[in-house]
Amino acid sequence: MRFDVLTLFPEIFQGYLTQSLLKLALQNGLVEIHLWNIRDWARGKHKSVDDRPFGGGPGMVLMPEPIFAAVEAVRAQTTESGLPILLTPTGERLTQPLVKELSQQRRLLLLCGRYEGFDERIRLGLRPREVSIGDFVCNGGEVPAMVLIDTMIRYVPGVLGDPESLAEESHNAPGRLEYPQYTRPRVFRGMAVPDVLLSGDHGAVARWRQEQSSLRSRRPRIECEPTSTTSERDNHEESIDRPGGGIGA
Ligand SMILES: C[S@@+](CC[C@H](N)C(=O)[O-])C[C@H]1O[C@@H](n2cnc3c(N)ncnc32)[C@H](O)[C@@H]1O
Repeated sequence: MRFDVLTLFPEIFQGYLTQSLLKLALQNGLVEIHLWNIRDWARGKHKSVDDRPFGGGPGMVLMPEPIFAAVEAVRAQTTESGLPILLTPTGERLTQPLVKELSQQRRLLLLCGRYEGFDERIRLGLRPREVSIGDFVCNGGEVPAMVLIDTMIRYVPGVLGDPESLAEESHNAPGRLEYPQYTRPRVFRGMAVPDVLLSGDHGAVARWRQEQSSLRSRRPRIECEPTSTTSERDNHEESIDRPGGGIGA
């Protein structure tokens, strides 16, 4: 899977690319990430990439010329022209099904905006897929691009140490959330690991996990149950298996 990231701030990605799973995936040739500075395609003495909005208003808007030039030059790097993705808070909300769908692509061009965002003709002319990582506004498209990369590479065979990790994860099926996980110590600040997990009875563990997963999945979540109240959520919390004792007990 190849990502071409078009940004005004390629340096932002440096720490991210040199850590953990992604570092290994890059080293093993499972994933390729190419960073491109849009300003390299800007013209004129000042290499401007943005200008004031027509009609007035605050901030600056990214101009179409450097973005089109950058996309055309980057696309031409390989025979696989790739799917352009415009990162924008007005786009389709990123969900696990969308991550899975996009992970079928061999090459993605991620367009990171800044300032007040993109001139509309970038959207109209490039006809990109428009993706939002959530209903909030980031300062730029770089963090959203990292979120997209981070979620997608999990579907590249060989990236996860154990492919089983994907099978039971939250959001694998719509609305399905993973069961609670525990590790050592057996008791921490009065909170004990549920006995069933220490029983060695694999059937009982599987049943407990299934049950806890169902309870969690039914828990009212603010974004899908806008009318749920704090007390409704609290009541539900109480029905989920709690470690023995309370904090500090
Ligand atoms: C400050 S934002 C511009 C917001 C724009 N004026 C608006 O109200 O829709 C600058 C850039 O950050 C990126 N961005 C911000 N929030 C985002 C989100 N939720 N999802 C994806 N990209 C986002 C986009 O690339 C955007 O062009």
